[in-house]
Amino acid sequence: MKYSKEETSRLNIQTKKFLKENSISDKKELEELRATIRFHEWQYYVHDNPLISDYEFDQLFKLLERAEHLHPEWITPDSPTQRVSSDLVDVFKSVEHLSPMLSLENSYNADDLNDFDARVKKLCALSEGDELSYFAEPKFDGGSIALIYENDFLVRAATRGDGAKGEEITSNARTIRSVPLKAAFSDYGIGKVELRGEAVISKAMFQKINENRETDGLALLANPRNAATGVLRVKDASETSSRGLDVFIFQVSYVEDLKGENAMFKQKSHADWMKILDILGFKVALHERKVCKNIDQVIQYINQWVEKRDHYKYEIDGVVVKVNELALQEKCGYTSHHPRWAVAHKFQAKQATSVLLNVEFQVGKIGSITPVAKIEPVQLAGVTVSSISLHNEDFITSRDIRYGDQVLVERAGDVIPYIVKAFPELRTGKEKPIHFPKHCPVCKTTLIREEDEAAWRCPNFMCEAQIIQRLIHHVSKDAMDIDGLGKSLIERFFELGWLKNMADIYRLDYKAISNLEGMGEKSAEKLRLSVEKAKKNPIHRLLHGLCIHHLGKKVSKLIAEHLRYLPDLKDWPLERYTSIKDVGPVVGKNIIAFFEDKKNVKMLEEMEELGVNMKQTSEDKPKEIAADAPLAGKTILFTGTLKELDRKEAQELAERAGAKNLSSVSSNLNILVVGEDAGSKLAKARALGSVEIWTEQEFLQKIR
Ligand code: IVH
Repeated sequence: MKYSKEETSRLNIQTKKFLKENSISDKKELEELRATIRFHEWQYYVHDNPLISDYEFDQLFKLLERAEHLHPEWITPDSPTQRVSSDLVDVFKSVEHLSPMLSLENSYNADDLNDFDARVKKLCALSEGDELSYFAEPKFDGGSIALIYENDFLVRAATRGDGAKGEEITSNARTIRSVPLKAAFSDYGIGKVELRGEAVISKAMFQKINENRETDGLALLANPRNAATGVLRVKDASETSSRGLDVFIFQVSYVEDLKGENAMFKQKSHADWMKILDILGFKVALHERKVCKNIDQVIQYINQWVEKRDHYKYEIDGVVVKVNELALQEKCGYTSHHPRWAVAHKFQAKQATSVLLNVEFQVGKIGSITPVAKIEPVQLAGVTVSSISLHNEDFITSRDIRYGDQVLVERAGDVIPYIVKAFPELRTGKEKPIHFPKHCPVCKTTLIREEDEAAWRCPNFMCEAQIIQRLIHHVSKDAMDIDGLGKSLIERFFELGWLKNMADIYRLDYKAISNLEGMGEKSAEKLRLSVEKAKKNPIHRLLHGLCIHHLGKKVSKLIAEHLRYLPDLKDWPLERYTSIKDVGPVVGKNIIAFFEDKKNVKMLEEMEELGVNMKQTSEDKPKEIAADAPLAGKTILFTGTLKELDRKEAQELAERAGAKNLSSVSSNLNILVVGEDAGSKLAKARALGSVEIWTEQEFLQKIR
């Protein structure tokens, strides 16, 4: 344990003192304050046991920031305020590990473990009956990371890469609060050390990330592992801190004493090293690990985890078992692939078998055909699964999946189910190959497949299924944002023949709508108002709403910045598109093709006649913010229900006042405006300590 009883009580007294006095008189006191904040960070992020409220932590952090602002010459690189750098990385540097990062051999059952035990004993020249102790702990399912500390400071962090060389991700690692920026290795006579660990995201945090991604219209992440490895490699370090990564250290891979000599064997066992890392403030699996006296105890320990894993905070995929004594590890040695003294016992995945009953071919908004398997419903980790995406034709052929096949279904990381494989050995002869259709299931047009794309597409722009999907996209939040006009109403209006193309949305007959079952005058009027509002949208929304392949929200905005009148695009040559930074030739060609089609030009003309805005608005233009704008250079986020403004209005006002809107709480955030029922964002901002927290009224006053 890093902090003794006396130290804990002393730091608690310090905490009270700093909170009461709220001032710093000299450099020594400032260092005391840092030590106090580090203690609370450790309690929260390493030990999972906060001793003060988020608000109090916030006060301490602000005090530190104020003092460092007054005395920048007193700032130290290991200060809690120095976790985020503003560096943006273009390409990660490739760096060599101090010793290769090997893999582990796998075990799947007790027999494998007993074989492992026998092999190890032989290598160590022990007899069968001798006892050999093993260190066992969960196998965390995240991304591996290697940290180097030199003269007590974190000097480098890297990903695993190919095992010999990884990518340097030091600024990202510095933002992870369970990674100490400084650790007193010199107290143990250590000058340089390389630690290995696993960066993980808790199941709860993973869920939150996906909820946010869904709101932002981003593709959902498949599992916490992908989330963690993705976050480790983000190019903007300030984002890493916003994603709640934790790092569990599981190995000391290289260690030098102060004279530069190998110091690995200064400790007797792996457990001894882990004890030291715990004392130095690292997050190790303190409550989870066990030193087992023999392989039978290891097997017992594994069985306990099979029961516990579903309720554990993190996703784990097995248990890692290591020979505990370092001298014996040395005797076992290594292959080029793995150490002979360790094994990874893998749990059974969350799988079930089912039967493939049918495949539906669904048509997307740009005509991509997605095969969706209908299977006999099965329970997978508490959820009934009956419908699973088969992605594309190659997925089906590479796995030779057939109608009627018994299939193995898995829910990866508790989220998206997929078909792992079919069982050809269980075929009865009645199974039939799945022929990917040659024609669109809806309009019967011959499908095409571009050379570099995985999907077959229906090229018929007027295909009914595509029209409906396009209409749904056109009115969606990221595009024209027509409140109250969702998927089911679009489908209903289409059936009734009221919607043939996007222009029809702007000439709906509200009288007729009010007479529909379940609608009435009130809802019709509400819908009319939403449509009227959308007509005034900036042109980047309309551009995005046209459903041109590869023309997303971001590129639409970039093009709108250079476009005074949307129909001018008719005359844009390809070079005009590619001269805009981040706009490529593919999307340029698609836009040109869109305008070459007379029907599309006519549709836009009709829209304009119906009052849809085609002219660049101030919202389309890049913002030029005066240096004296009230929120110039600040970042802001709104959370909870606001009373006077709706969310969009508030964000626009903030932007006009010079602020940049962020979508999540990170140490990059300056201001959080809280409405009613603010939840986790508020708690997180408080924990960060660096975020100013305003009410809606305060916000309105400040921007006035
Ligand atoms: S020990 C010499 N312990 O599993 C290798 N590895 O295939 C020593 N992992 O990529 C590794 N949790 O990142 C060890 N408690 C744990 C682990 C663990 C996850 C990962 C590790 C590596 C992979 C091994």
